[in-house]
Amino acid sequence: MKYRIGLVGCGVVGQGFLEILAAKAEELKARHGFEAKVVAIADKLKGTAIIPAGIDIGKALKWLGAGKSLDEFGPVKAKREAPADPLDVIARTDADIIAELTYTDIKTGEPATSHIRKALQTGKHVVTSNKGPAALYYRELAELAKKKKRQFRIEGTVMSGTPVFTLCERGFAGNEVREIKGILNGTTNFILSKMETDGMEYGEALALAQKLGYAEADPTADVEGFDALAKVVILSNVLLGGNLKPAQIRPQGISSITRQMVLDAKAEGFRYKLVGFARRESGKIAAGVAPQKLSLADPLTGVMGAQNALTFDLDLLGKVTIQGPGAGKLATGHAILQDVLAIHHDLE
Ligand code: HSE
Repeated sequence: MKYRIGLVGCGVVGQGFLEILAAKAEELKARHGFEAKVVAIADKLKGTAIIPAGIDIGKALKWLGAGKSLDEFGPVKAKREAPADPLDVIARTDADIIAELTYTDIKTGEPATSHIRKALQTGKHVVTSNKGPAALYYRELAELAKKKKRQFRIEGTVMSGTPVFTLCERGFAGNEVREIKGILNGTTNFILSKMETDGMEYGEALALAQKLGYAEADPTADVEGFDALAKVVILSNVLLGGNLKPAQIRPQGISSITRQMVLDAKAEGFRYKLVGFARRESGKIAAGVAPQKLSLADPLTGVMGAQNALTFDLDLLGKVTIQGPGAGKLATGHAILQDVLAIHHDLE
């Protein structure tokens, strides 16, 4: 089947997804019977291109790489017709799937939530890596999607392209998730690792994480635990049937952990990790984010650098731990591909 895809937001994740679509086009067609054309890209800073016949992805990536605006991309007719407001683009495009890839605003969930509502209301499936709408409005958006007989998929919001939700949906089908516990923020795990292995001070390690692009635009969300909390809330609400809001939980971050504390813990046979957890307790969800001194026997203890890991406690399987990238251009682009392919396989 051939799908028309529209991108709202075309920063690191959007460009990663486009790179994968271009590089894997033949393989996706041969192995999955999946073909896609990108019919619209709308980005607040990078401009808008709407080309119903399909955007030449290679050319568009080069165009963006040269710092040129998408308003000037493609045939003159497309230029003239391109509206600047992403909500208009979403409503007017004939895309089957909208990939919402704008930057996360964890406090308001906007403008992404409005984009997602508009896409679902106008009959499009939605895939997103944006944590704001998933943490704040998952239930509402999932119900809207159901009402419209469309899908709202969020694989890229937790552990980027390392499968979490598709894994639970298919691989863990039939299990009840009793508890999740994980390292859900790459920046803080990178900082804690560098303090131990390279003897860096906290500030030095944070500066390096920012330089390498792991940290959010405002790293407070990473180091004070708000990014990990958003992911815990998403996991609780999607996998444990919770209805939590981020404002109900006060996370504890790593800004008070010093290099000496990290080294002392190591000497005692422990390692500090920023741990996010959620579990069912007497019909309710208990959830939180805080630094914990984990013993060497815990599978999360060996996870170093910007990697993420998650331990599921399942009623049929018991404990299963996955580890993999939690951020990055191709890793998160891959999450978007996973969701698009899941929609394709459901429709086949
Ligand atoms: N800032 C986040 C992290 C990016 O460090 O994990 C991925 O959500």
